[in-house]
Amino acid sequence: MNLVDQTEKTFALTTPLYYVNDLPHIGSAYTTIAADVVARFQRLLGRPVLLITGTDEHGLKIQRTAESKGISPQKFCDQMSGGFVSLWQVLNIKYDRFIRTSDPRHEAIVKEFFQRVWNKGDIYQGQQKGWYCVSCEEFKEERELLEGHRCPIHTNKETEWRDEQNYFFRLSKYQTQLEELYQSRPDFIQPESRRNEILNFVKQGLQDFSISRVNVDLGFRVPTDPKHTLYVWFDALLGYVTALLEPDAEPTLENALAKWWPINLHLIGKDILRFHAVYWPAMLMSANLPLPKQVFGHGFLTKDGLKMGKSLGNTLDPVALTTSYSADAVRYYFLKEIEFGRDGDFNESRFIDVLNADLANDLGNLLNRTLGMVKKYCAGNVPPITSEDIPNDSPLKSIGLRLGEQVKNAYEALAFNQACDAILKLVRASNKYIDEQAPWSLYKQGQQQATEKVLYSVLESVRLAAYLLSPVIPNISHSIYQQLGFEIDFNNQAQTAITAPFAIHGTWGVLSDKQTLGEPSPVFKRIEPPK
Ligand code: MSP
Repeated sequence: MNLVDQTEKTFALTTPLYYVNDLPHIGSAYTTIAADVVARFQRLLGRPVLLITGTDEHGLKIQRTAESKGISPQKFCDQMSGGFVSLWQVLNIKYDRFIRTSDPRHEAIVKEFFQRVWNKGDIYQGQQKGWYCVSCEEFKEERELLEGHRCPIHTNKETEWRDEQNYFFRLSKYQTQLEELYQSRPDFIQPESRRNEILNFVKQGLQDFSISRVNVDLGFRVPTDPKHTLYVWFDALLGYVTALLEPDAEPTLENALAKWWPINLHLIGKDILRFHAVYWPAMLMSANLPLPKQVFGHGFLTKDGLKMGKSLGNTLDPVALTTSYSADAVRYYFLKEIEFGRDGDFNESRFIDVLNADLANDLGNLLNRTLGMVKKYCAGNVPPITSEDIPNDSPLKSIGLRLGEQVKNAYEALAFNQACDAILKLVRASNKYIDEQAPWSLYKQGQQQATEKVLYSVLESVRLAAYLLSPVIPNISHSIYQQLGFEIDFNNQAQTAITAPFAIHGTWGVLSDKQTLGEPSPVFKRIEPPK
């Protein structure tokens, strides 16, 4: 297969394919929001983007949950998968592909891939003995386990002993190649702390892992031995490949890999890093396929400083949270407040404080009061000023001129909090500038042009802030743009890439008096803390 590297032009990224044993939780929402922000930013740059998400519908965990509910696995998966689709709608996630691993086309891709690895001689039969965590769908090493053979991640669950014939994948054969990969491409695993974790793990020596089960029904049969079911992770990772198929394409590897492969970015949580950063590249090496560009493992979320869990009764329902506070609020909090890559916390009063301070006060009030002054002092029109009329070293323009590049670098490094902080600095500087310049006095003193320059500088800074924040808070940015007289909808990304490309709208000085300002209205209503 001759695969041309298309990835300079295209940008394909994935979220994990979420298990459907339960409704989506805030952790799944977190990864998907981040992925959506990356996708939206790349689209602003004008790159063709493919955002892949979906559901993982095989394995013992789901089989058991469906059994306990007395419904057929397919029916159960249909119901649960729908829950993810509707959450993504509520959170305003613009994905391009939603892959379900129960899709029959996926089986064809998995079979073809299995055959390639089989032909390579990398699959053999052996005896699997070990402790299995059904919640992780993973064998644990004795030394990793807590007392009573409990899983370190699912601390209230005991692992189960297995001693059975399985098929194995020769992971150990790829030890050197993997080490070379990590050395030659230091960006392959990010952030740095996760990369080190994997380097240490691999250094200890890789063991072959079993890729089939004999006691599980929910999954694909092993093509060469139908008594065995394929291990859920072996098929799930290949979901990223099946997702690349055009809707009416025949399910072959060649068709799937033609346009978007290799994937530019796999976004995942830190608990599933080994699968993505060790097993997956080794599987691809075995099948002679190019490797993804980057795997980024983000941190875990806690609530009020505590690990979230049903047994603790402190879960955070993403649907309820979004319905109460809006998609933009939820998206903004998680990306602005937490350094992506590190663990982070949700606390409701902190949540409300951050949103009120940044979105209602700093950004929303700034727009509102400036538009109010424009109405009074400039007859409601954009002042007839252009960027050239403002010196490059004036307080807002000097920040604005550098901001686009700075924010681009931050988004590209997935440093969402840095992107937001840099943008908010311009917003805060604008508030300060208005207070210092006091356009109301300038106007009273008859200094019309000076008044106009101040108001233009501030409105243009709000515009730039709205544009650069649009991947994170598309609805608020849309509302700001409308009030500034632009017919640009940040939720229609194909249109935005053409009418408001980053190369133009990502710089300072775009606002012009040819635009007709819209009616001022609050872009983010202050949240009253619950009593
Ligand atoms: N089905 C596998 C992924 C297969 S990908 C080919 C799976 N699914 S999952 O639904 O259990 O997990 C999905 C994601 O949620 C993981 O990236 C995991 O890290 C993330 N999170 C689970 N709990 C989390 C938090 N408390 N905080 C942040 N993310 C968390 O694993």
